[in-house]
Amino acid sequence: MTDWGALAAERLNRLAQVSEDGPGVTRLPFTPQHRQAVALLTEWMEEAGLRAHLDDAGTLVGRHEGRAGAGTFYLGSHQDSVREGGAYDGIMGVVLPILAMRKLNEAGRLPSCSVEVLAFADEEGVRWPTALIGSRALAGSFDPAVLEMRDRDGVPLRAAIEAFGLDPGRIAAVQRPRAAALGFLETHIEQGPVLQEKAQPLGIVTAICGIERHQITLTGETGHAGTLPMASRRDALVGAAEIVSEVNRHARATEDLRATVGEIHVSPNVVNAVPREVRMTVELRSPVDATREAAGEHLHGFAQRVALASGLMLTAEKTYAQPAQPCDRGFADRLAEVIAEQGHAPLRLASGATHDASAMADLCPIAMLFVRCRDGISHTPQEYAAPEDLGAAVDVLSAFLERPFG
Ligand code: HGY
Ligand code: MN
Ligand code: MN
Repeated sequence: MTDWGALAAERLNRLAQVSEDGPGVTRLPFTPQHRQAVALLTEWMEEAGLRAHLDDAGTLVGRHEGRAGAGTFYLGSHQDSVREGGAYDGIMGVVLPILAMRKLNEAGRLPSCSVEVLAFADEEGVRWPTALIGSRALAGSFDPAVLEMRDRDGVPLRAAIEAFGLDPGRIAAVQRPRAAALGFLETHIEQGPVLQEKAQPLGIVTAICGIERHQITLTGETGHAGTLPMASRRDALVGAAEIVSEVNRHARATEDLRATVGEIHVSPNVVNAVPREVRMTVELRSPVDATREAAGEHLHGFAQRVALASGLMLTAEKTYAQPAQPCDRGFADRLAEVIAEQGHAPLRLASGATHDASAMADLCPIAMLFVRCRDGISHTPQEYAAPEDLGAAVDVLSAFLERPFG
């Protein structure tokens, strides 16, 4: 009798070693680490009886061919991580469905429909200022303009895909037919504390929050920190600090809104020179799109007033937006029934993180299964999910797939 939880934990630990040097996991898309992860996942997909191939958007696809005309059910998540991230975010949602299909295959109880387990190349949007490349390609919402975006070393996405041995010109052909798409189920570590607080291993996601990202640049002038009089300074960092404080104040005062300045660069960034330029990101999230959009407009207006009052130049651009996405009620109820059959409480909760499922919603009805996250810690090396919870998820996924669709 296979201990699916222990096997899942062992494989996730092995994948966590597939990383750039440094603390935690750093596995970015179209890199040597991505290629090593593809090799391991291919081996495990084939062991589960799935036929594996890499599509031109960098998604590794493990397919079980079901009865002709029975449609395809999709499962999966992203193989990439943030920098110095954890061992579970994304990749858990690839390893667990592979094991669920292996469990069904070994028991001779494979679903009559076709099934694809997907390992998307890039969900985090850490290397290039875009995200959800693979899931958008499958859903038909990929914007080819992002191929010209450059990473922090100046490498265009297009070139990285070509260097990976893929053809960016064929990404449009990756789109799946809507009529045959039965649904998409993403399994993901909760990245929050709710399941731990409720002492439950699994949860059912009701909706995924919307998100928008802004790039803000303030430009003043530099000068000698010891001789430039305070009254005549145009210090870009002082202006930026006012905006950072307002981002935080506004989000604390607004229900259902979370706002973060996660990335900031100061130039010339030396101890004895007045900051000339600050480039920073502002990220806004809410399950209510109108709340998020109003916050974006408020913060742009506030930044303009700060720049005017401080004699600074301002550029502020919304570089990314993704609407809030409800999950399919029918699939959520199906998950709840299966979770209850396994003896757990079918808890329902919203997701403050965004996921590939948000993009797959353009193709088919979506569902998400959350797995308990220790202390709600994620996007850090301390991220952790227990083997018994991983095993509970494999059991739920296999039972979910065993039920006929439609
Ligand atoms: O940022 C997010 O919510 C996701 O981890 N990409
Ligand atoms: Mn993440
Ligand atoms: Mn994720």
